[in-house]
This record gives sequence, C-alpha cells and structure tokens, in this order.
Amino acid sequence: MIKKGDIYYPTKEIKNKAWVKDKKIYKEAEKDPIKFWENLAKEIFWFNKWKKGFVHKPPYFQWFTEGKINITSNIFEHNSLGWEKIKNKTAIIWEPELIDEKPRILTYNELSGEVNKFANALKRLGVRKGDRVGIYLPMIPEVIISILACARIGAIHAVVFSAFSPNALKIRLQDTEAKVLITADGYFRRGKIIDLKKNADQGIQETKVKKVIIVKRAENKIKMEKERDFWWQDLVEKESVQCEPRVMDSEDTLFILYTSGSTGKPKGTVHACGGYTVQAKWTGKWIFDLHDNDIMWCTADVGWVTGHTYGVYSPLLNGIPTLIYEGSPDWPNLDRWAQIIEKHKVNIFYTAPTAVRMFKKYGTEFIEKYKFDTLRILGSVGEPIDEAAWNWYFKEVGKEKCPILDTWWQTETGGILITSLPGVGPFKPCFTGLPLPGLKFDILDEKGKSLPSNKEGNLVLLPPFTPGLLRGIYKNPKKYLETYWNEYGKKVYFTSDAAYKDKNGLIRIVGRVDDVIKVAGHRLSTGELEDAISRIPDISECAVIGIPDEIKGEALLSFVVLKKEKSLEQVQEEIKKQIRKEIGPIASIKNVYLVKDLPKTRSGKIMRRILKRLFTKEELGDISTLANPESVNQIKKVIIQ
Ligand code: WTA
Repeated sequence: MIKKGDIYYPTKEIKNKAWVKDKKIYKEAEKDPIKFWENLAKEIFWFNKWKKGFVHKPPYFQWFTEGKINITSNIFEHNSLGWEKIKNKTAIIWEPELIDEKPRILTYNELSGEVNKFANALKRLGVRKGDRVGIYLPMIPEVIISILACARIGAIHAVVFSAFSPNALKIRLQDTEAKVLITADGYFRRGKIIDLKKNADQGIQETKVKKVIIVKRAENKIKMEKERDFWWQDLVEKESVQCEPRVMDSEDTLFILYTSGSTGKPKGTVHACGGYTVQAKWTGKWIFDLHDNDIMWCTADVGWVTGHTYGVYSPLLNGIPTLIYEGSPDWPNLDRWAQIIEKHKVNIFYTAPTAVRMFKKYGTEFIEKYKFDTLRILGSVGEPIDEAAWNWYFKEVGKEKCPILDTWWQTETGGILITSLPGVGPFKPCFTGLPLPGLKFDILDEKGKSLPSNKEGNLVLLPPFTPGLLRGIYKNPKKYLETYWNEYGKKVYFTSDAAYKDKNGLIRIVGRVDDVIKVAGHRLSTGELEDAISRIPDISECAVIGIPDEIKGEALLSFVVLKKEKSLEQVQEEIKKQIRKEIGPIASIKNVYLVKDLPKTRSGKIMRRILKRLFTKEELGDISTLANPESVNQIKKVIIQ
C-alpha cells in the first residue's frame, strides 16, 4: 500500500488486478444511478427481464419491476462464470471446531445436488412458495443448504442465530408463523456440545411449528417426537438431485431477518429477491474484488446479515468458495483463526473489530510464525474500528500489503453501502470510506439541512436508495414508517447513525443515535434488555446502557430500582439467568448497580444519556431540567463504591 500522510492508496499491483480501478465510475454512476444498477442487473440471469428499474411510492419502492428471477439459478446453473466452469469447483469449505475432524468440502455440483434434494424434501413436507421456514442451525454446511433450498422453492427463510435463547427463538417464530423449523441435535463450541435440539424444543412451544427437521451433527442424545421430528438425513435420502427453481417476482420476499431496534420487540426486516441478488453479487465482486481463484472467509455467523450476504450469497453468486467455521476463533488455541487462514489459503478475510481487538490483545507472538501470504483483502464490519486495531490488522495480518475495507452497512441495507473500493481507495483509519458508486448519502442536522465537512449529523440515504434495502418490517408497516421514514419525511432513509465527512468526502461513523448497543458487533436493543430485566420479580425499574469496552466495543451496564431489598449478588445472578433465558449469552451484563431512582425527564423518559456520561467522563450537561436531578448524585455514589 502507498501511504501519503495518514491516508493509504492501492499499489499498482492491487489496481491492476482490481475490477474497479478508475474513480471515473463514481461520476458515471452519479449521472444516472438507476441506469447504473440496471446495467449491473444485466449480468444476472432473469427468466424475464424487468420493466422498470426503480419505482418510488414513498415510503415504498421497488427495483426491477416484473423481473422474474431465482437467486439459486444465479448460483448454480446460470452462474455468471458458467456452470461448466464452476460445477467441479469448491463451493463450501467447512472447518469443524474439533481439530482432528476432517473439513468437509462441497463442489458447486455437490452443493446443488444437496440443495435440490433438501428442496424436494421441504416440498414433500408441504412447504410452498411464500411459506416461512425457521432455520436455527450452527455453522455447518446444512445452514447454507437450508437457506438455498428455501430460496430454490420460493419459501422465505428466517434464520435465527443458534446462540439465541429458546425465548428469543420463540418470539421470532411467533412473528413469522413458520410451520417448519430446521435445527440440529447439537454442535461444538469451545470443546463442549451445545444441546441445540433442547433449545429448539422449548423455542417452538406456543408457535405454529408443526414439523422439525434435525441435522445430525454432534450425535448427542436427543428426544424425537413422533410425526413432528424428522432426521434431515432420512428426509433427503431418496430425493432427486434435480429440482426446478421456482420463478420468483423481483419483489417477492427472499428472506426475513430479525434485528434489534429501539423498542423491546425485534423487527423482521424483509428483503426482496431481485434487488438483493443484484446487490449481493456486485458489492461482493467489487468490494472484495472477487476473482475466480479466490477463497473468502467471512467470520460472521449466518444468523446475522453479514453471514447471509458475505458468508453465503455473495461468494456463491460470484462462483468462488466460501469458508465457514463451526467454532470459536481462539479455540483450542489462540491462533486457530490464523491456522485456518493458512490451512485453507484464504485470500479474503472479513471480520469484526471486536475479533481484531481480541487477537491484538493476545499479542503478536502468537502469530509470528504466520506469513499470511495468501491474504489479499481484509475487511471489517459491524462497528467503528479504532486506529490502534486498524493499524494492528494492517501490519500484523495484512503485512502492510492488503487494503483494509472498513465496510458500513446494516441488516436493513442488505449489503455494504459505504467503503472505499480496493483498486481506488483511499483508506484512512477510522473512516469507513466513500459511498459506493450510485449511492447518495448525506449528513443532515436536526432540521434536515445538509451539513458541510467535519460537522457531525445524521447519516441518511436518498433516492433511489439501493436495490437491496429492506422493503418493510414483517407485518408491521407502522414500525417501518416510524423507524426509517419519519425523521426527514417519506423520501429520506434515516440510518439511525451519526456520522461526518472529511474534506475528501470520506465518511466517519460516530455511532447509533437510537437505543441500539453493539456488543462485540452484535446488535442489541436497550428496550429488549430492559423488558427482560424488568420481568424479574421485585425489580420495579431498570435502565441498560452501553459503555466503551476495550475488546467488545461496548459493554452493558444495568441500573436497577428494587421494590424490596435484596443483595447485589442475588440481583446479579437473577439478571444473568434472565438474560440467558430471554436473549442468549451474547448479551451478558458486565455490571449491575442498585439505585434508588433513575434520572428522568418530566414526561417520565429515562435519560440513559446521562447515565452513560457518568462513565465516559463527558460533561453531564444541564440536569436541572430533570424531574429528579438528585438521582444523579445518588447514582454517582453507587458507581464509586
Ligand atoms: C454499525 C451489520 C461503524 C452501525 C452489517 C450500523 C458500523 C449498525 C459499521 C448495523 C462500520 C456497521 N463502522 N459502524 N464499518 N458497520 N456499523 O444491522 O451503527 O448488525 O447502523 O448490520 O452497525 O448493524 P447490523
């Protein structure tokens, strides 16, 4: 990489290889963004071409109207690289957590066969186009096979992160009204077997799930219920490796994925077949500069949007192998992740800042023996990457030759929207980069005025948005309108992130302006956590905040008002149990404080901002407007203890 001041540019070598090397593309796309996306869509296989590129009926919009498509046809028989060329190529490299177990490799042809067999099995169980199918699987090839099998027959997949608790699963299944759930007996995590079937059995209570399909993975003993539970292996045994793709309308739903917002209930973001396919294919190809011989490892679990788009769809649409890993990146040794990169000759490595900070903390000695000479592109996602982590990643992993793509996007956007392109640059630590060609972002003040460089405001996306942007919140149009199209009217997509631009237009993300907290890159909502905690008997009120954490980015603190006296230890234990039950281990609370009162506005709103400032050492601001300013001093005392 070439360094000028604090900014990096790609070398000639990177440029020469890159799909995009000329910044002219930004100007061209800007002239007519709809045309720009339409041109990209031409390289996708459509059963029938679309009529209109973009149709806008605020707050709703459509892309590639009346186009007919199936995303799996674009992965398999009509892959843009040509089926003959890719059918014997590796599609999935699966690395199990157990170090002595052999990786599983599936070629495109084998994957296609497995997908079709399972698609046929789903049909036989009565799954039809538009039906929702719950997927609650660990990182094993069957999670990808399940997703693609649903897409093949037009069923809507709704993946639920396997580390989510039974209750979290239940809420999501209730919302989708899925009749089928795909899960596994168990899986390995840090050497232990996680009994996933037991969680699934609890999670499907009080839902419409009538059939459960179970992949045999850990061979732990499980209970099977007659006529409800089926072994995956038994179902697919006699099915054919052929299954015609269901012809889908461009605007038909491809999947629902739940994410946390400000309120207690998770929102099901709805993604459309046509736009998502075009965006997943091209963002992967250009941003990670995917070439025929590349191997991509996106470390995100398929339960999150990053796993959906860059662990599954994007690499496969581009005809390259995707690597998935079952376990923890530091198990059984701290350098497991580095071993995997060398063993499988990974070229593109996409991970989260929290992982980078963890690797960095372990020290460089662990990875001194690794040359990482296959790596070409590094990516980061999910939260801002601080300068120290950026530099470590750049130097110790990328050996100063790989561009670091700090990619900004959201579950809602379906794909990466802001990052500098590898063959163009520039790359500046802490700055996520330039919006992709054809996208119109702006930074607005509260009144909706566009702000000049270096002024912080709300990051918004303007029409025609992007083909992969969510089309709605499942069964909740009100929430869709309120969350995204209310702040600045129905034509401006409100991201809920604060940001500013430098003088070159590079965007720096400051963080969320709503009540979403990012713990180790996982999106959690204060509302959801507070709801769960408030349900514990004897707790009358609580507030949850995120404060800066060296490794996890943010850590959770909870302030609790009790109805009757209890010891702190007891409350801590109860909260821990409750959070595990309602959400899962990812939402662990670092500290609990017992307080008499929470700071509130006169209208009764809890001022979390003030609680947070007690930890970040920022000025508290004017607290005299609070209904109970004395609460702040009392809380200060509790914190100091
Ligand atoms: C944050 C993850 C800074 C942001 C793909 C956004 C980031 C939220 C970055 C979405 C980045 C994501 N730099 N912040 N490169 N990428 N974020 O839905 O606050 O899990 O709104 O999607 O993560 O999180 P989500």
